[in-house]
Amino acid sequence: MSHVRNAILITGAGQRIGLHLAERFLDEGHPVLFTYRTPRPSVAALEAKGAHGLLVDLAEADASQKVVGFVAEHALSLRCVIHNASVWLKDVELRNSPQNLAALMRLHLQVPYELNILLEPWLRASDAELKDIISISDFNTARGSDQHAFYLATKAGLQNLTKSFAKKYAPEIKVNDIAPALILFNEDDSEEYRAQRLKKSLLQIEPGPEVVWQTVKFIMENRYLTATSIPLDGGRSVV
Ligand SMILES: NC(=O)c1ccc[n+]([C@@H]2O[C@H](COP(=O)([O-])OP(=O)(O)OC[C@H]3O[C@@H](n4cnc5c(N)ncnc54)[C@H](OP(=O)(O)O)[C@@H]3O)[C@@H](O)[C@H]2O)c1
Repeated sequence: MSHVRNAILITGAGQRIGLHLAERFLDEGHPVLFTYRTPRPSVAALEAKGAHGLLVDLAEADASQKVVGFVAEHALSLRCVIHNASVWLKDVELRNSPQNLAALMRLHLQVPYELNILLEPWLRASDAELKDIISISDFNTARGSDQHAFYLATKAGLQNLTKSFAKKYAPEIKVNDIAPALILFNEDDSEEYRAQRLKKSLLQIEPGPEVVWQTVKFIMENRYLTATSIPLDGGRSVV
């Protein structure tokens, strides 16, 4: 099997934002490695375009080791690692569910932490001028929530990892975070909920995943940006 150089690794790229990022990287000719949990036609479509996918439940204890084994199988070096996989669990879904609590801890903290450490040699092996780790957190860490307290606490932890790994890996590897507010509604969101959410930002739109792609590109192309979390919120912070 031939190994690619300067690959992009995206976790949770089977749908929505992660899928869009994978498609756009492929459009630009980058080798793409991704993880997914649910087999979908979108996963087969990414693979048909040349991306390599790993079916893995990132909430399992040995998930990071599986991802590293997968990277070793396919890539000599990584240009960028994107921590995108997430689960938006409400606090009521965590009651009597140690599994759900553990899933949030693993997806948003443990797996990004472990992958940042285990994949460092692949990032350092890249001959690209700039190398990046980018996490996708959540704008609401700044505000808290009465319904998603634990989800947001783990996303705040993810933002905090950005600062520590930026220090640890400077100047060779930049480490940044994107903190989105509304990007995409979920299919089952009611009209009333949608209207209420749209009113919460100045720009009052559901922007879609292209704005995340633009922010990823901005980070990757910018040589003076590290240790930061970029709010992607349509002006929500002043509403
Ligand atoms: N959408 C928004 O408006 C919004 C707003 C703020 C922040 N964000 C952040 O942006 C990122 C992408 O958002 P999104 O809306 O595209 O999220 P999404 O639709 O929920 O997709 C998240 C991905 O994570 C994967 N995942 C979840 N649990 C997993 C597990 N145990 N093991 C492996 N993979 C797992 C999912 O795989 P399966 O589909 O196979 O389960 C899915 O592909 C997330 O980090 C999210 O928190 C999004």
